Amino acid sequence: MNVLFIGDIVGSVGRKAVKSILPKLKSKYRPSIIIANGENAAAGRGITRAIATELFEAGVHGITMGNHTWDQKDIFDFIDDEPKLIRPANFPEGTPGRGSAIIKANGKELMIVNLQGRTFLPPIDCPFAKVDELLRTDKKPVCVLVDFHAEATSEKIAMGWHLDGRVSAVVGTHTHVQSHDERILPGGTAYITDVGMVGPRDGVLGMERNAVLQKFKTQLPVRFVVDEGKWHFHAVLIEMNEQTGTAGAIRLIRIYEDDVIFD
Ligand SMILES: [Fe+2]
Ligand SMILES: [Fe+2]
Repeated sequence: MNVLFIGDIVGSVGRKAVKSILPKLKSKYRPSIIIANGENAAAGRGITRAIATELFEAGVHGITMGNHTWDQKDIFDFIDDEPKLIRPANFPEGTPGRGSAIIKANGKELMIVNLQGRTFLPPIDCPFAKVDELLRTDKKPVCVLVDFHAEATSEKIAMGWHLDGRVSAVVGTHTHVQSHDERILPGGTAYITDVGMVGPRDGVLGMERNAVLQKFKTQLPVRFVVDEGKWHFHAVLIEMNEQTGTAGAIRLIRIYEDDVIFD
């Protein structure tokens, strides 16, 4: 089966990009399951119930999160009732929501695990030990995708090796910059350090650039807002073998608004 994983969707520009490009990607690649990282979907910070619904209606089957999970108060009202919304599994015991889920769509099923790194991010439980614990269950589907939301490239590469041969794919999120190191590891796991982002391309990681520049130059407190303007769309398409759980291919998808070419 083909699985489409979409990088961090940033604000309304990112959501607009998803809605405009997804129908074309669906007809070209026929993905059975579509997963997106939604930690920045609400004005760059977190997600709301209405926005999660908007993404599901656009064709996304599951949403992963990250360090911005709790930025919208609304999340506490619905995270426990939304089985397709997955926050990092290694948040402390007792945290609302779930860190893994089985997503079913188009007759296929895929286990999704969301983890957060702890290098240059708040200290939380060990993502390596947590994923081992989650994979110990024998109730899981053959195919498993891990979204490792982390800052350090080294931590993400290490996670790829930690899980090689044990999951179908390890995809990195959080940096909003698509890396060019997509590959199939020797044990059959698809890997990429960072999928990238979906949202304004002329800001800084999706935020309006003058405010970010002012912050860097003055070190004074500055309010960041999502940039407006043209979008770019970063995702990966992963081909998974439903008998073995291994990945046959991982392909980068990189689309610019006004430059959409489909053969
Ligand atoms: Fe992000
Ligand atoms: Fe993040």
